[in-house]
Amino acid sequence: MTTERIPQLKDFSAASLDAAFAALEAEARSEAAALATPGAVEAFRLEWLGRKQGRLNEISSLWLKSAPAEAKKLLGQRFNALKTAVEGLLDAALGAGPSNASLAAEAIDITLPGTRRLMGAEHPIIKTLNEIVGVFQALGYSVGVGPEVETDFYNFESMNFPPGHPARDTQDTLVIANQERRPLRDRLLLRTHTSPVQMRTMEQHAPPVRIVIPGKVHRNDAADATHSPIFHQVEGLCVDTNVTFSDLKGTLDHAMKALFGSAVKTRFFPSFFPFTEPSADVQISCIFCGGKGCRKCKHSGWIELLGCGMVDPAVFAFAAEKQPAYDSRKISGFAFGMGVERIAMMKYGVSEIGQFYSGEMKFLNQFA
Ligand code: PHE
Repeated sequence: MTTERIPQLKDFSAASLDAAFAALEAEARSEAAALATPGAVEAFRLEWLGRKQGRLNEISSLWLKSAPAEAKKLLGQRFNALKTAVEGLLDAALGAGPSNASLAAEAIDITLPGTRRLMGAEHPIIKTLNEIVGVFQALGYSVGVGPEVETDFYNFESMNFPPGHPARDTQDTLVIANQERRPLRDRLLLRTHTSPVQMRTMEQHAPPVRIVIPGKVHRNDAADATHSPIFHQVEGLCVDTNVTFSDLKGTLDHAMKALFGSAVKTRFFPSFFPFTEPSADVQISCIFCGGKGCRKCKHSGWIELLGCGMVDPAVFAFAAEKQPAYDSRKISGFAFGMGVERIAMMKYGVSEIGQFYSGEMKFLNQFA
């Protein structure tokens, strides 16, 4: 290959050198004249000036080495002249720059919009959950959490659902397998409500306590338009001396007005929970018809929204095993629990609970 690109030079006379270098320079000139693209200019540079494979490099190793001593000086001068000429040709080619066409192809249109980076947004359930928690934080409540995999003791027994009690049937759930060797109270299950965190809180803190506990809960409920086997609750617990049912009513009436607007009315309906006595369901005046009666409130003017009640003395008795200050002769308290999905569906007019879990961007974008 080298012998093709660089002719053999047997005669090192001045005339022979002049002819050989003139031929090479002429070849370089004609090639340089034809350079049309930046790629071709680079190929030209490599062909002639490339450090390893370049023709000038080959000339220097083939000719300079084999030249007789007396010819070396002249050969060196011719070589340098050729090199300068080729470098000049390259500079000229580079200076001419890329053609207008290739410039246009590479040009950046600064009038185009940039790449839009979408901002993340809170999921409507988390947004609602935070809003509920915020209402109670503003009243001085602290915020706590508890485990989703809970023991039978915290989820049921300490909440006054004794083993075998029919009230347990209202909150069926998944249990962790292969625990038959453990005592019932230590067996693990997916918590059915956030109420067990009431007990965990009282075991850690003597009264007074004011806390809200948001979290995920699980139940053996068939999914339909308003039920999901996994959903979210916000639990509330307030324990102090002289806490009364009217404190409960005032607190929840304020919270419902803060969440749904000051025109909303509340009403407390007798109910049953094993861990509260008395217990109540809180209803709010229908936010869709203002209480006149419509399809959403089944023409009653009221919508049931959450459960609540005064903490049952049996629950305080479990807490007193670790914190004797939970003596129901000296303190009293109220608790409440609300479904976050239900409140979000009301606030945003969502009629299918499944939309919250669909991951459908068309749905979620509306809350961004
Ligand atoms: N834990 C109850 C439920 O999940 C709600 C509740 C909480 C009721 C606190 C009263 C007091 O249905």
